Amino acid sequence: MLNNLKAQAPDKILALMGEYRADPRDNKVDLGVGVYKDADGKTPIMTAVHKAEKQVWDSETTKSYAGLAGQPEFHAAMAEMVLGKDYPADRLACLSTVGGTGACRMGFELARMASEGTTIWVSDPTWPNHLSILNFMGQAFKAYRYFDADSRSVDFDAMMADLKAVKKGDIVLLHGCCHNPTGANLTLDQWGKVADLLEETGAVPMIDLAYQGFGDGLEEDAAGTRLIASRLPEVLIAASCSKNFGIYRERTGCLMVLGAAETQGVTQSTLSYLNRQTYSFPPYHGQALVTRVLTDPALRAEWEAELEEVRTGMLSLRKQLADELRRLSNSDRFDFVAEHRGMFSRLGATPEQVAKMKAENAIYMVGDSRINIAGLNEKSVPLLARALIDAGV
Ligand code: LMR
Repeated sequence: MLNNLKAQAPDKILALMGEYRADPRDNKVDLGVGVYKDADGKTPIMTAVHKAEKQVWDSETTKSYAGLAGQPEFHAAMAEMVLGKDYPADRLACLSTVGGTGACRMGFELARMASEGTTIWVSDPTWPNHLSILNFMGQAFKAYRYFDADSRSVDFDAMMADLKAVKKGDIVLLHGCCHNPTGANLTLDQWGKVADLLEETGAVPMIDLAYQGFGDGLEEDAAGTRLIASRLPEVLIAASCSKNFGIYRERTGCLMVLGAAETQGVTQSTLSYLNRQTYSFPPYHGQALVTRVLTDPALRAEWEAELEEVRTGMLSLRKQLADELRRLSNSDRFDFVAEHRGMFSRLGATPEQVAKMKAENAIYMVGDSRINIAGLNEKSVPLLARALIDAGV
């Protein structure tokens, strides 16, 4: 039986992690996988999360099963963070998932169950694992243009032109903030125009919100999602806690589904069913940590301050890199780096230039020239800038 299996191509982002680890050079720079790192290259446990963990440790009395759909208090805290205090609880169904990836997968599964023959529209480019999961599921998808490779900004006219072809019941996957891999994001005005188009066509938005708090702020990064949620009758939101709580390995995510109040019960039961068929109960620990952090005022204030430090640190690195590139290139052609938001920027280097920087400068970035800004520090910013110029980017 097993000899029928075909080798699967490794995930490019994860393979790059392995290559980086195996590289013996002291001066290597990891700008690959989307994991936050401080100036020393460490991914610390946030202190508020650590304190919450001690509290959970002290108060937990059992490891028996918890909720199949997840914990209601986690759902409420997440809904409030993502949708704001006045979120419509009577229209909302929630599912705790295995990270943000699990939320995406369950969202796709729900869409497939609800709307047979649906097409899922994804931005070109998008997070490669979106495509990989859709391929694995045998789910039909189409790409809409998103990124202008010359200006490294959103090509909004092209995006809207492509989305005119969506049909009623199709799913349009949008990145809520901090677009992965480009770093180029919609303005609030553009979100409004997307909402108009979705209203006209009857397509259903699905928002992947994996980096809330990493762009312009916790509230600001949710603004597009909230606008869509306030306007469209049905919305899917796949939220991740991996990055903004720094709990990558706890695998904590939440799929939120807004619909008519009459459909809420059936939607909720379908979500529970999806968990049960796939892996049964979702991980509990991360939900407990996030719930404590979000609902305890002192922990929440501490977490928000830490998150803000992470965010402003990345903004400062963006500015340093843009300034250095302006100096070295004697032009403003890299100013987009400071305008992008979130962890990532797609720099526009060719695969050959990316390979050259890896071979000659020990700088690791994803093959499409996506860099993780948080992988930089004051010392490596000038190294990257120099390497980019030397590679002819
Ligand atoms: C990334 O894009 O680097 C992260 O979302 C990590 C992953 O799983 O790919």
